Amino acid sequence: MKNEIGIYLIGLGVVGSGVAKQLISKEDIFTEAVGSKLVLNHVMVRNKTKKRDFQLSPDLFVDTFEEIINDDSTDVVIEVIGGVEPAKTFIIQALNNQKHVVTANKELIAKHGPELISIATENNVRILFEASVAGGTPIISPVIRDFSANNITSIKAIINGTTNYILSRMSTENADYFEVLKDAQKLGYAESDPTNDVEGVDAAYKLAILSSLSYKSFVKDSDVYCEGITNISAKDFQIAKELGYEIKLIAFSEFKDDQNSARVHPTLNSKNEMLANVNGVLNSVQIETDLIGNVLFHGAGAGSLPTASAVLADVIDISRNISSGFVVLDYMNISEKSSIVEISDLVTKYYIRVSAKDQPGVLSQISTILANHQISIASFIQKSSYDGLAELVIMTHEALERSIQDALGEIRNLNVVKAIDNSIRVMN
Ligand code: NDP
Ligand code: HSE
Repeated sequence: MKNEIGIYLIGLGVVGSGVAKQLISKEDIFTEAVGSKLVLNHVMVRNKTKKRDFQLSPDLFVDTFEEIINDDSTDVVIEVIGGVEPAKTFIIQALNNQKHVVTANKELIAKHGPELISIATENNVRILFEASVAGGTPIISPVIRDFSANNITSIKAIINGTTNYILSRMSTENADYFEVLKDAQKLGYAESDPTNDVEGVDAAYKLAILSSLSYKSFVKDSDVYCEGITNISAKDFQIAKELGYEIKLIAFSEFKDDQNSARVHPTLNSKNEMLANVNGVLNSVQIETDLIGNVLFHGAGAGSLPTASAVLADVIDISRNISSGFVVLDYMNISEKSSIVEISDLVTKYYIRVSAKDQPGVLSQISTILANHQISIASFIQKSSYDGLAELVIMTHEALERSIQDALGEIRNLNVVKAIDNSIRVMN
């Protein structure tokens, strides 16, 4: 029985400050839950002189990670700095010094998860990363533990709070993209470089982690097809609504016939679908399994306290092991990669918005190209006409992605077409 569990926190930003505040303010509750006192014994940041909205004793701050990583009083290292390096080096050093690790770093786990898990296992310690997917909403722990008797067959999710916050406000308030992005940054939802949020990369990291754990086969971030939300305009929201859809950034993966497919892209979702109604920073993950059918996880996907909740759940879990003297190693079996289905093989419906000359024969030229590529039109609407240009909206039936892309290339080259303003997949 250990009376005190020493915690070394690297990073004191949005997530780290939430973790530190809770460790201090809920000390008694955590002591009761664990049976030992959780003590924040070291903190490392990039800039020790930065003004922070709460004070920690200056004695806690260390200058270099190496300085005290082999200090016996440290049991658990929490990494919340983000990015691959130096986080990866710090974590490997911690694991090799028999320290347990808790991290919220999706980029690192998506790229190097299996390697870090095996270093932890070799050292008889644990690495947990609940906060890396869906922020405060529990999802990794259920996938590893509660679904262990199931075959998971598909995942359909909204797993980036920043983009869902932006899309929801653009849809409901007609708000300006850049203004809403600034608000998401102020609220602590966005990554330090929000490009990863708005280009779908952050969601791709999370989908790669969830898919690897669910299908027990390594899906790397680069295996996930990825498109962001920066092309979506107020016009798309207006038309989508008229047609009965909401636009969401959807992460989808499935495991079928020994093959993985994983993709993140904007999608038109029928307003009757559950995911169409997930708004603001909320995340929603729908997991389909052979024994249960569909299970839904829904809650805060980003922000200081929700994310601190997930980090601390991992810390408490590990601390209970340490306190009892019995460390239960995690069973996270992720084998080598299965083959990946290319996006060009996808079969999906499409929304296509085109600006073209408002003159006889234009519709027939476009529909001929679609027909030549075996693409059947579900509806063809002329929205408006100004300065001799018509805005055309085409909804297709299901078609092969590569046929759609080939057809779009030909339509774009027609003399009568000014631009393909947007093309968005429609959720089946
Ligand atoms: P922030 O940018 O707010 O904070 C990063 C912290 O790390 C800062 O305290 C910074 O120090 C410190 N830091 C950065 N580089 C170094 C370094 N080389 N050495 C020591 N300290 C360093 O990030 P977040 O808190 O938002 O995110 C942290 C992690 O959590 C990321 O992996 C992120 O993806 C993940 N995450 C974030 C969520 C969120 O809602 N924000 C939700 C879920 C996961 P200083 O303060 O001195 O600049
Ligand atoms: N930037 C991420 C998001 C944080 O917006 O979802 C949570 O991982």
